[in-house]
Amino acid sequence: MAEASHWDAVYQARDEEALTWFEASPGPSLELINEYLSQGQALVDVGAGASRLVEHLLEAGFGPVMLVDLSPHALEVTRERLGANRQDVEWQAADVTNWSPARRYALWHDRAVFHFLTGESDRARYVATMTKALGPGGIAIIATFAEDGPMTCSGLPVRRYSPADLAAEIDRLAPGRFEPLKALRHEHITPKGNVQNFQLSVFRKRAVAQDKNAP
Ligand SMILES: C[S@@+](CC[C@H](N)C(=O)[O-])C[C@H]1O[C@@H](n2cnc3c(N)ncnc32)[C@H](O)[C@@H]1O
Repeated sequence: MAEASHWDAVYQARDEEALTWFEASPGPSLELINEYLSQGQALVDVGAGASRLVEHLLEAGFGPVMLVDLSPHALEVTRERLGANRQDVEWQAADVTNWSPARRYALWHDRAVFHFLTGESDRARYVATMTKALGPGGIAIIATFAEDGPMTCSGLPVRRYSPADLAAEIDRLAPGRFEPLKALRHEHITPKGNVQNFQLSVFRKRAVAQDKNAP
């Protein structure tokens, strides 16, 4: 897995609008968050980078929002952009696979982070963190490159997923714990006009793990 220094260098080298994953308005994420989160419920955006999702969430009346990212520089870009409009926002520079959430969230959002976890132990720690961070009934929205998406991002290899692959991997790492609710496909257009295929999957955390062998 890449170091914070890799990501800090990426965010220092280019403006956020020039990054391949830049979205002026994160439409698919907002659509799903609107569907599954109620106002006043807390959410966490892991690998938030310098994403503009937070502004759109605050504008829509959501919050509190916790932003977690490996890159302190990316979080600083968002902090500066928000200016005084950040009462309902918290920040943590951390590796999500080692992060200890101090509270529980109603919703976990990840756009383009899980797919970088090409090592089994990193994925296992990520899912353990997500399980700890969500309360019973909590929602996880995980957006990754789709099975026909790019094979690398930011010079790093990624693992691509269909919704079925992702649901199987989450269930393998946390057996019976997450119920897949729905999935969307999305064609992201990069600032240079290239198409990147994403999938966004929604899971609900069960209060107790479901035993697949139970009658
Ligand atoms: C492709 S960018 C996506 C950023 C943001 N989610 C968006 O949609 O604009 C991936 C982000 O994940 C962060 N990242 C990568 N690995 C991470 C990890 N293990 N823990 C926390 N953040 C990570 C990077 O610093 C980067 O900001």
